[in-house]
Amino acid sequence: ALPLLGSGALSGRRVVVTAGGTREALDPVRFLGNRSSGKQGVALAAAARDLGASVLLIAAHLEVPAPSGVELLNVTSARELQTAVEREVPGADVLIMAAAVADFRPAQYVASKMKKTDDVEAPELTLVRNPDILAGAVAARAAGEAAERGGWPDLIVGFAAETGDESHSVLDYARQKLARKGCDLLVVNEVGESKGFAADVNEVSILFASGAEPVRAAGSKDDVARAVTQAIADAL
Ligand code: CTP
Ligand code: CA
Repeated sequence: ALPLLGSGALSGRRVVVTAGGTREALDPVRFLGNRSSGKQGVALAAAARDLGASVLLIAAHLEVPAPSGVELLNVTSARELQTAVEREVPGADVLIMAAAVADFRPAQYVASKMKKTDDVEAPELTLVRNPDILAGAVAARAAGEAAERGGWPDLIVGFAAETGDESHSVLDYARQKLARKGCDLLVVNEVGESKGFAADVNEVSILFASGAEPVRAAGSKDDVARAVTQAIADAL
């Protein structure tokens, strides 16, 4: 059941969630993409709404419907996502970066469809780095930017999927990423180690820059979303 108006742990709060996977255009008909479905981000937006937050979902190619009762802003590329974040996030209380943002994009966009020709070999793709939107938000907050629009959120949340190896555990890599990104919370999904759970069961650890003990959560994406939004409400 929905909480009564104003009664939730996030009531009166503005939460921006990014979700889905960006697409980086090569030409008018082709792109580089990734397999993100957007399900976790959509579940987070719904969970924040259920806790009473006013929610904006910035969506890149969701494979699932957007939840009702949240604002929706569609974007395509990492740079469009960056523009939307810079425009919409100042003044919000929380930014949750659940989107899978392409680290690279084609160096050149070809305005007319690329053709193959008989005498020419396959073209070589040159990629360039995309902006790191999460790190950019952290840096903008540290610099005190957008103060006239309410400033950057007190809580900036990153997501990561990590695997462990012989020398480092998933949590080791996650702690490194939390420190490198400078965000306040990092939600780490342990991938590639099926431990007898069904494929739709996730296992995450929520890490805190404050040094608080990590919180573990397991279950469906909705279960994980509830655990993450509760941790956010507790941290605010
Ligand atoms: N992210 C971002 N902008 C990018 C890349 C990632 O904002 N260009 C955000 C993601 O939305 C996520 C977090 O950063 O919340 C971590 O993404 P991840 O891909 O794990 O981090 P990277 O720094 O790109 O590290 P890796 O080399 O492991 O991909
Ligand atoms: Ca990445």
